[in-house]
Amino acid sequence: MNVDGTHYRTIWLKEGDERTVQIIDQRNLPHEFIIEDLKTTKDVARAIKEMRVRGAGLIGATAAYGMYLAALESREELRWLIKQKDSAVPKEQFDSYCSSEFDIMMKNAGDVLIRTRPTAVNLEWAVNRQIEAMKGTGYDSKISTALKTAIEIADEDAEYCRSIGEHGVNLLEDISNRKGGKPVNILTHCNAGWLAFVDYGSATSPIYAAHNQGIDVHVWVDETRPSNQGARLTAWELGQHGVPHTVIADNAGGHLMQHEEVDIMIVGSDRTTYTGDVCNKIGTYLKAVAAKDNNIPFYVALPSSTIDWKMRDGVKEIPIEERGGEEVKYIQGLHDGNIKQVLLTPETSSVTNYSFDVTPSRLVTGIITERGICEASEDGILSMYPERRK
Ligand code: MRU
Repeated sequence: MNVDGTHYRTIWLKEGDERTVQIIDQRNLPHEFIIEDLKTTKDVARAIKEMRVRGAGLIGATAAYGMYLAALESREELRWLIKQKDSAVPKEQFDSYCSSEFDIMMKNAGDVLIRTRPTAVNLEWAVNRQIEAMKGTGYDSKISTALKTAIEIADEDAEYCRSIGEHGVNLLEDISNRKGGKPVNILTHCNAGWLAFVDYGSATSPIYAAHNQGIDVHVWVDETRPSNQGARLTAWELGQHGVPHTVIADNAGGHLMQHEEVDIMIVGSDRTTYTGDVCNKIGTYLKAVAAKDNNIPFYVALPSSTIDWKMRDGVKEIPIEERGGEEVKYIQGLHDGNIKQVLLTPETSSVTNYSFDVTPSRLVTGIITERGICEASEDGILSMYPERRK
């Protein structure tokens, strides 16, 4: 999507340097647009953990590039090991020795990346996809396979999000027709925009598609405490694309729904069980309850990389990340031209910081996937992905 009229993705390989991955450091948005170089697996793990990159699709794609950097590092390390072991490993066994050592190193790097953030399943999915892809190749082609797979994962993420827009826009068009062309009011929570993926976003993709088609849309943007992904990121990217929007305090949604100011809710997801329970940024569940009470359709937009095909009961099984209390105690903003953190609570108050919650499938009107819109149920999801039927 566009930043000041220039097209960006959220992650890419540096031009002319295949050993450097570049990202936008999202901690500074909307006030500063900073591009950062990632050169090692450690850089990647830190970028994910510190939320320089964030959002389910993007952390998956970043982990995929992390595995590519890990492959480069493993080869260097192996070269050194081989020099030491030159006499110990017979020449004819070099290839299989290197291959199995390499696979162990990749598995270890993958474990480090997966541990950075527990809730979004995309991380684990991307790491496993890399490990599987490299397993099938000879030692010589492991690096090129890792690079090809990282690019594939990123391109697929962008393409799937684009398709989500194509399917989801029909919902907005129907509402617009019913309202005789008056603005369609969409409420979203957190940032499931292009900044949370490689491009387009999941929840925002139907909105961008509608806006591009000339459908009048207006977005209520939940600020999304404590990290304010809505106020900082969703508002910024909608603004960059010229989409009318209004930032609201998280608690305002219910009131707006009661007064018919919300036509539809669309949110993203970090992990969705194959039965349709949806895990998303903390506070989503409360909005889903309010939407149900007010008869407002509640849709979740997600690419299939976010579906956990092993988990049945989202509330009981999905691991919920608990982040540092400073995110609740402090708030970040621009002051005198500098980004500052200010203390919000009494210094000695204790705080907790659960990052996600689970909305049970019964509260979800439908799921917008890259293949189409389905019911939030095992049957609905499997009808979209019949190859997953056991
Ligand atoms: O903690 P974050 O910022 O990585 O949160 C994840 C999210 O962006 C949201 O939960 C989002 O709505 C779904 S992920 C595309």
